[in-house]
Amino acid sequence: MIVGIPREVFPGERRVSLIPAQVGPLAKAGFGIRVESGAGTLAGFADREYADKGAQIVSRSESLAAEVVLGVRWDLPEDAASEALAACRPGRIIIGMWDPWNHRDMIQRWAEKGAVLFALELLPRITRAQSMDVLSSMATLAGYRAVILAAVSLPRIFPMLMTAAGTLTPAKVFVIGAGVAGLQAIATARRLGAAVSAYDVRPAVKEQVQSLGAKFVELELETAAAEDKGGYAKELGEEFYRKQREMMARVLTQSDVVISTASVPGKRAPLLITAEMVRGMQPGSVIVDLAAERGGNCELTKAGETVVENGVTVLGPVNLPAEVPYHGSQMYSKNITTFLQHLVKNGAAQLDADDQIIRETMLCRDGRIVHPGLAGA
Ligand code: NAI
Repeated sequence: MIVGIPREVFPGERRVSLIPAQVGPLAKAGFGIRVESGAGTLAGFADREYADKGAQIVSRSESLAAEVVLGVRWDLPEDAASEALAACRPGRIIIGMWDPWNHRDMIQRWAEKGAVLFALELLPRITRAQSMDVLSSMATLAGYRAVILAAVSLPRIFPMLMTAAGTLTPAKVFVIGAGVAGLQAIATARRLGAAVSAYDVRPAVKEQVQSLGAKFVELELETAAAEDKGGYAKELGEEFYRKQREMMARVLTQSDVVISTASVPGKRAPLLITAEMVRGMQPGSVIVDLAAERGGNCELTKAGETVVENGVTVLGPVNLPAEVPYHGSQMYSKNITTFLQHLVKNGAAQLDADDQIIRETMLCRDGRIVHPGLAGA
């Protein structure tokens, strides 16, 4: 089976879906790999490295014409989407991130072309799928990167220093939401020497926060019902969020940096920081709102932009994993090749709807949208 790796063309995207180190294992498993010339350059992987591992370096159209095409982002602007659609033949398998809920019309066009699409962001977070879980691997990088962005924007340094020129106190970092991104943000801020505290509605994460050397902020809120069966946060209602904002306002006034990562699967991000709360913070403080693309945890957040209010900088970064493309590609490549090898056995794709991993990621086949949620959307 021939696997194509086109260069990513989503604006600002620098990752590549397969790194040279994964070419050997795939070739050994019987795949032929065709990489578009330059596909890995922005992530730090030269054509030569792919060729050395046994991949063929080809043109864009040849990479797109493969039986299976791997990509990072397929929620492409119209001209790039049309080019990829034109290269598609019935039965082609295309794997990557599709942002399907916001691109249903585009998925429909692919379905009409007879493509079989898999959206990795829909992978169930189950043990069997852990090594394919792109959302977790990319959120880990986003949590790291968010702290680096904050450190660069902050007029202070993070660590405590005792010098002949006096003592510098450590920066105070408050992390809201201690899921995948939040825990990595805590760990990164600690490594840089900040005094870190964190809050999450799921009481179960308190121990994890503390084990990273951060303080768990106790808010007097009833959170026993905050977690669903899958271990995710549930939506808690406006009255709860109002109380949470009230109780967090004081913590915010004492923080130099706030990294907010609070999210509830499938919902708009909860609004936890009002404009008024921002105005109560010290000038020079920095908020990095990782939930920017999902409406933001902060009222002032603008996705992809920086807003300054009363001397407080509010960053709403999007696609942070693309800013660390070397490791972003390494982790993504591991995730997608594990998925590919789960899907293709002995040279044939197992489109087995009884398998939860296949069922929950398959968007379309045989000319129609088959994903239950998306078909009815
Ligand atoms: P996750 O589901 O692992 O963690 C979210 C955490 O927020 C959970 O622990 C949950 O309990 C907590 N939470 C929910 N409601 C809360 C509340 N009211 N107060 C405090 N905590 C609350 O999600 P993950 O993977 O860590 O992603 C976090 C956010 O970062 C998501 O919005 C995701 O879309 C975003 N993200 C942004 C990126 C970027 O480049 N901007 C890249 C990757 C992820």
